[in-house]
Amino acid sequence: MAAAPSERLSTALAGCSLQTPLVAAAGTCGVLDELAEVSDVRWLGAVTTKSLTPESREGNAPWRVVETKGGMLNAIGLANPGVDAFVREHAPRARAMRCAVIGSVAGHGVEEFVRVAVALEGAGLHAIELNVSCPNTSDGRMFGSDPVLLASVVRAVRAAVRVRPLIVKLPPDGDPVALARAAVEAGADALTLCNTFPAMQIDPESRRPALSRGSGGLSGPGIHPIVVRIVREVHRQVAGPAAVPIIGLGGVLDWRDAAELVLAGATAVGVGTALLVDPGSPRRIAQGLDAWCARQGVRSIQELVGAVQA
Ligand SMILES: Cc1cc2nc3c(=O)[nH]c(=O)nc-3n(C[C@H](O)[C@H](O)[C@H](O)COP(=O)(O)O)c2cc1C
Repeated sequence: MAAAPSERLSTALAGCSLQTPLVAAAGTCGVLDELAEVSDVRWLGAVTTKSLTPESREGNAPWRVVETKGGMLNAIGLANPGVDAFVREHAPRARAMRCAVIGSVAGHGVEEFVRVAVALEGAGLHAIELNVSCPNTSDGRMFGSDPVLLASVVRAVRAAVRVRPLIVKLPPDGDPVALARAAVEAGADALTLCNTFPAMQIDPESRRPALSRGSGGLSGPGIHPIVVRIVREVHRQVAGPAAVPIIGLGGVLDWRDAAELVLAGATAVGVGTALLVDPGSPRRIAQGLDAWCARQGVRSIQELVGAVQA
């Protein structure tokens, strides 16, 4: 097996070169580079930082992660050191990373999104992702639930930073096609589809919710087929015609899951829960994708984006 990713896997996300199409998802690989302690990040095209807010946040009380049959539920609540501490204490290490770094931005209002995005651009990260779809804070989904509000935050950040790609991460519920259209028209260079699904687990004996916050976000294999369909529809109706790349994200555990998202229209593929199960999974998934490309007779995985036979 190859010791480094083959050229066949290299791709680009609106001008940002990725050595493989795999992207470590926000919140599942530490604040910045912790994954590199347990996994060879050369098998990833990019890692995404933990979502950063203007102030540091403790997040929700335990329990904030529980297993389910189809994956896991989390209600971390955007625990993060705050963007200024991130820029001071973490960001200087970004340059030494062996893959691109996407800065994930969260906030309570338009001004907070702008403030965090500007700080991350100043820190030299390769791309910025707006997390407008967090189910685990009181207003984390406000901008991701209404195309008009979404457009306002995307437009404000687009006007304030020059970094490309500006990626917008959408929720899986609601109307992803309408939200995607609003984001693209407001200046998004790429879309991440999707965040976790709002979900709940109840302990029948105590009759209490398993998560301290009551509900949380479902990730992992249970959401995968739903995300494949969302990627397919958004690619067909919005992103494909506008030439806006998609990061397909949800329940990818192996190369087959990743290949499905590519065929549905994803230029890059996010990996989240899989990293928590097996931090070495990017290598396994990338090698499987490479062998699949060889069997498909293509010189670049980019030839297979959106290539589902419908
Ligand atoms: C423990 C945990 C923490 C997460 N934190 C964030 C976060 O800070 N920002 C964000 O945009 N998404 C966050 N997510 C969502 C993931 O980035 C991803 O959208 C989701 O897990 C679906 O992908 P998966 O099924 O591959 O895990 C988190 C997910 C998990 C499991």
